[in-house]
Amino acid sequence: MFTQIVACALFAATAAAQLTTTSVPSMLTRSVGPTTSHAAKRAHICNVLDYGGSIGSSDIGPAITSAYNSCVTKNAGSTFMKTWVTLNGGKNWAIQLDGFITRTSTTSGHMFAITNATDFEFYSANSAGGIQGNGYQCRNAGPRLIRVITSTSFSVHDLVLVDSPEFHLIIDNGSRGEVYNLAIRGAAIGGSDGIDVSGDNHWVHDVMVTNQDECVTIKSPASNFLVERIWCNRSGGCAFGSLNTGVSIKNIVYRNIYTNGGNQAMMLKSNGGSGTVSNILLDQFQTHDTAYGLYINSYWSSISVNPGNGVTYSGITFSNWNGNVSNGTQRAPVSILCPDANPCTDITLKNVNMWSKTGSAVIKCESAYGTGACLRNSGSHTSYTVTSTITKPAGYTDPPTLPGDLASGFNPSASIPTPTIPSTYFPGLGQISPLMRMQSTSAPSGPTSTSNPTTTSAPTSAPTGGSGGTAAHYGQCGGIGWTGPTACESPYTCVQSNEYYSQCL
Ligand SMILES: *[C@@H]1O[C@H](CO)[C@@H](O)[C@H](O)[C@H]1NC(C)=O
Ligand SMILES: *[C@@H]1O[C@H](CO)[C@@H](O)[C@H](O)[C@H]1NC(C)=O
Ligand SMILES: *[C@@H]1O[C@H](CO)[C@@H](O)[C@H](O)[C@H]1NC(C)=O
Ligand SMILES: *[C@@H]1O[C@H](CO)[C@@H](O)[C@H](O)[C@H]1NC(C)=O
Ligand SMILES: *[C@@H]1O[C@H](CO)[C@@H](O)[C@H](O)[C@H]1NC(C)=O
Repeated sequence: MFTQIVACALFAATAAAQLTTTSVPSMLTRSVGPTTSHAAKRAHICNVLDYGGSIGSSDIGPAITSAYNSCVTKNAGSTFMKTWVTLNGGKNWAIQLDGFITRTSTTSGHMFAITNATDFEFYSANSAGGIQGNGYQCRNAGPRLIRVITSTSFSVHDLVLVDSPEFHLIIDNGSRGEVYNLAIRGAAIGGSDGIDVSGDNHWVHDVMVTNQDECVTIKSPASNFLVERIWCNRSGGCAFGSLNTGVSIKNIVYRNIYTNGGNQAMMLKSNGGSGTVSNILLDQFQTHDTAYGLYINSYWSSISVNPGNGVTYSGITFSNWNGNVSNGTQRAPVSILCPDANPCTDITLKNVNMWSKTGSAVIKCESAYGTGACLRNSGSHTSYTVTSTITKPAGYTDPPTLPGDLASGFNPSASIPTPTIPSTYFPGLGQISPLMRMQSTSAPSGPTSTSNPTTTSAPTSAPTGGSGGTAAHYGQCGGIGWTGPTACESPYTCVQSNEYYSQCL
């Protein structure tokens, strides 16, 4: 339908090529991200400046809609926006946002609603574009920033989202989405969710969130997700939920999650309700100074009681956790509270070493069966509650910290400064995909980077390539730091785009 915009499925194409059924044993079962290369999309660029937009425009919304309807959407430079856009049904298109758009009206809804898109990409080529929501001017009474609804094969990346009046990024249903290289900075207040995601086969990675609500949170329905390298830098924390009735969540992996302060390392939250959460792996969590740590709460009082005997939690493994909470007698570092009418089963804690900054802690279990902590392990799953005092776990070590850990959140009633997108989200690990600004020498104008990309660009622990040792059409086949296949499947040949990137064309 549309044959549009801009640059840069480079890395998304790489990810798509790598994430085959066999490449991520854990959860993703199909490739993610756009299916059209940047090279192909570049053939047709529409600049919003040619559709009634101007740098400094007081409302870029109509120009974006006009560009979209005619063909394209590229936005650079600073503009303002008071008319929200819903862009429905596009195929093979992209929004390249290399400047900042500042919200000016308080209309509710979403500044950008992308619905029913196929093969779509929303990104900044200079890794410095984004949206300033100035939420302090209309706290919890204005738009959300971006919502991608029932879309397929898409990516959202290299964007900076600041101070939304409400939520920052929502992925509703849809499938094969990739969300990465984002800095999200909201205020220290509820209703400022970072990323809420539902659907099938999505990959969220390399994201930093500051706020006082959801960091990267899964909503029902959800299946086959991989969420990794998340930095909750003074955020409410990652969660599943809140969950109500008819819940369907399965085959989810979170790994390498780093949480500095905030409410919890991870919480599965419900109050009554029905449906199932099953086959979940929560691996490699490092956390310090959160209020709660590892937390299943089936009596979560911030929502009203839902009809049903409680959500069924089953087949949930927590492995390789290390961290401390602020006060472990006040709020247990490990708390697994399951519905008395519907006990949790097959809960496994392996190498979980959670402790307290105060040097004393309790752990709590209620109607939860499995192994580890105070979980019971018996054939008959009856209700019980237990609170035990613990000593420092033998495997506990002071959790690592990251330079740039926020000491406190941002004042909800003051303007919030724009962050830059980091290149590390978990201590000791680099990024999976280098920032766009470090990848493409042919990126359109914008602040070019002076930093040395070699130090951060190696995707050393990216999911490994599929079988056969050849890259698919549009897949990456070379570049500094590249450890995947260097040959292309027939009839494509490996073409160098720049020293960091070669592609099968
Ligand atoms: C997206 O597609 C669905 C199904 O065709 C349709 O019901 C819905 O209205 C579409 N969304 C928008 C915003 O048009
Ligand atoms: C997402 O899917 C669920 C389950 O099919 C449905 O209830 C919900 O309305 C969908 N949300 C959107 C925004 O389409
Ligand atoms: C920790 O919490 C307990 C129980 O609420 C309280 O008695 C204690 O004073 C707290 N410790 C610190 C150091 O604040
Ligand atoms: C909690 O973690 C922080 C960060 O590593 C560390 O500085 C502090 O000493 C830890 N507290 C305890 C009691 O282990
Ligand atoms: C975390 O917050 C601190 C303080 O604002 C900031 O310096 C750092 O860059 C933030 N981290 C990220 C990844 O933005």
